[in-house]
Amino acid sequence: MITKDIRGNYARVAATYDGAWADVLAVHARAVSDRLPLASARRVAELGCGPGRLLDHLATLAPQAQVIGADLTEEMIRRAPAGYGRVVADVQTLPFAAESLDAVVMPFVLFHLPDLPLALSAVRRSLAPGGSFAAVTWSGHDPHPAYDVWVRVIDEHDAPADPSPQMPSNAVTSDPVKLAAALETAGFGQVDITVERFRHQPTAAEFLAHSRVIGSMARRLDLLPPERRTACLAAAERALAELSPEDFVESGTILYSTARAA
Ligand SMILES: C[S@@+](CC[C@H](N)C(=O)[O-])C[C@H]1O[C@@H](n2cnc3c(N)ncnc32)[C@H](O)[C@@H]1O
Repeated sequence: MITKDIRGNYARVAATYDGAWADVLAVHARAVSDRLPLASARRVAELGCGPGRLLDHLATLAPQAQVIGADLTEEMIRRAPAGYGRVVADVQTLPFAAESLDAVVMPFVLFHLPDLPLALSAVRRSLAPGGSFAAVTWSGHDPHPAYDVWVRVIDEHDAPADPSPQMPSNAVTSDPVKLAAALETAGFGQVDITVERFRHQPTAAEFLAHSRVIGSMARRLDLLPPERRTACLAAAERALAELSPEDFVESGTILYSTARAA
């Protein structure tokens, strides 16, 4: 059920996601991929590739490889660049043969997986012995005044609770000790997790354009009747206009994980 909700959510937001936000996240997707030994890889996959921002970079890092993007959501994968393998697939039931991939990269995906142990075991099975794995996950969040204002305005307009929270495994994937244990239990070795900084500073207009479509508050906003929704957005615009540019900085820590299939 939750996987169906996640697919529905990404289908709804795909066009907006495939803009500035994909570019913001791609910085980290590229950085973690740079840690993998891909020069002689023959088959490399990004699982949960979204609109496929990383695929060109993977092809550069792995010039001899077939590069494949796979994603649960057809509306996302359709946006990935042509010329790469593009597969609609759930990470938890991967369509790849055992030991058929030399590397798997999963930036900003693991927290979405309702059955993380099942998914990590499936990924590990798809990798050749010694094959490499990389992921990026959210960890700590610094105070974010613009987001606090956004939540307050949504609350003041009596928006119902988020009907489909999207991060069922975040308690594990945000914690380097728990994430390392999950990877080791799934059969990965040489697990290395580093804590990195995330920083993004949108303008007020960019913040609102993103937040009214993507995320938990956008799902709440969508449940308001049209008139209250319009009033809520106007109130948010007024309240956000009072803030300083620094109040829009979204920052915190993220985890870069790398490992080898044991
Ligand atoms: C935050 S986006 C990350 C996209 C891309 N990796 C990036 O860094 O921009 C999460 C993606 O994971 C996909 N996803 C979520 N659950 C999945 C699953 N069980 N199997 C495959 N893909 C999944 C979503 O459809 C979405 O495209």
